[in-house]
Amino acid sequence: MIILLLGSGGREHALAWKTAQSPLCEKLFIAPGNAGTMSEGTNINININDFEAVADFVHNSKVNMVVVGPEEPLVKGISDYLHNHPLCKDILIVGPNASGARLEGSKEFAKEFMKKYNIPTASYASFDTNSFEKGVSFLKTLKPPYVLKADGLAAGKGVLILNTLDEAIQSLDNMLNKQSFGEASSKVVIEEFLTGIELSVFVATDGKDWVLLPEAKDYKRIGESDTGPNTGGMGAVSPVPFADEQFIDKVIARIIQPTIKGLIEESISYKGFIFIGLMNVNGEPFVIEYNVRLGDPETEAIIPRIDSDLVELFAAIAKQSIKNYKIAINPEYAVTVVLVSGGYPGSYEKGYPISGIDLTKRTKIFFAGADSKDGKIVTSGGRVLAITALDSSLSEACKKSLHLSEKVEFKEKYFRKDIGLDVQK
Ligand code: AMP
Ligand code: GLY
Repeated sequence: MIILLLGSGGREHALAWKTAQSPLCEKLFIAPGNAGTMSEGTNINININDFEAVADFVHNSKVNMVVVGPEEPLVKGISDYLHNHPLCKDILIVGPNASGARLEGSKEFAKEFMKKYNIPTASYASFDTNSFEKGVSFLKTLKPPYVLKADGLAAGKGVLILNTLDEAIQSLDNMLNKQSFGEASSKVVIEEFLTGIELSVFVATDGKDWVLLPEAKDYKRIGESDTGPNTGGMGAVSPVPFADEQFIDKVIARIIQPTIKGLIEESISYKGFIFIGLMNVNGEPFVIEYNVRLGDPETEAIIPRIDSDLVELFAAIAKQSIKNYKIAINPEYAVTVVLVSGGYPGSYEKGYPISGIDLTKRTKIFFAGADSKDGKIVTSGGRVLAITALDSSLSEACKKSLHLSEKVEFKEKYFRKDIGLDVQK
């Protein structure tokens, strides 16, 4: 099979690494890829939001399967475009069509969907410019902190949590009336604040049946003990010790099954991954958000734990044969530490050489914001590398990934040293 993987982050390096190991993968292209994906396949310099360019490449290079990493092209309808393109009709596509991608592309749609199918989530109401005053009245009925979400995609920055009513009203005004997130905040969802511990659950589905992938916990804040501004993710651990069988059974019965049933009832043919961001509130799961792709850096922790063939899983998703797919999962712990450029998530310098990358058997370095320039690997983004270590002991896996994080060097490197510590029993 000739496979084209779209994306350029640590998630795509992890997917490329596992895809390239499959005997079913004859050739792998990554668009645009990064310094890591180029050792797993061939990087192609095309803009993945230019669907015509993607379709041309698919046709000219005889690609059989397209796997979409990030949400933006999915929300913009890349799957529909390729399906309907006369030259790409027969290719397999992993990633939902635009109607399914609304689960991530519109917070209001996701909340309405959850309400309709009785899926536990925070109570909410949504407002637009015309109903700003009603939004203010609604805020006054809630207790702090206040949760405000831009309806549309906002590169992971569209959720605000405010401690006072004044700040919440000000933010609602900024979002609705001053378009602080552009078109994405022309509607705003205001919801009840949930207190608990977060985790991410991943499902692969062909729209009828599904398989559960390993779960993970993400560490979103820049500072240790979850302090400071939000980032794309500073680390991950999988499995999550508090996600025991009883908890996962609740997630399946109350969330996954009704989600798939809802998609079928809405006539949404969903072929791809569903990433369910959950809050564990005293042992009860509530949905914080849906994403229509895998998480980053969660993928860098979960992919090394999947022993079965990933391309077989991709094909089962796209051919609607997931019922027959048996997933084999390594029970060991995977701990991923993300090394970032100093200053991130604010401004930072790029172009610093990276050294000290040597791989031992039980660790893996996934590249994110790292480019190859004149034969050298240099920093090119905020999140630079994701270092994953596996071990049967969670504390050993933590130690190994930290040890390697110390050894890799680049100027102004920063990483959190507490990834995985909070969930150790
Ligand atoms: P989202 O982009 O929807 O995942 O939201 C970003 C982050 O905001 C989540 O990971 C949570 O930490 C937090 N968050 C979102 N919604 C809520 C809520 N209803 N209660 C508490 N925290 C929330
Ligand atoms: N790690 C969170 C995300 O991928 O959205």
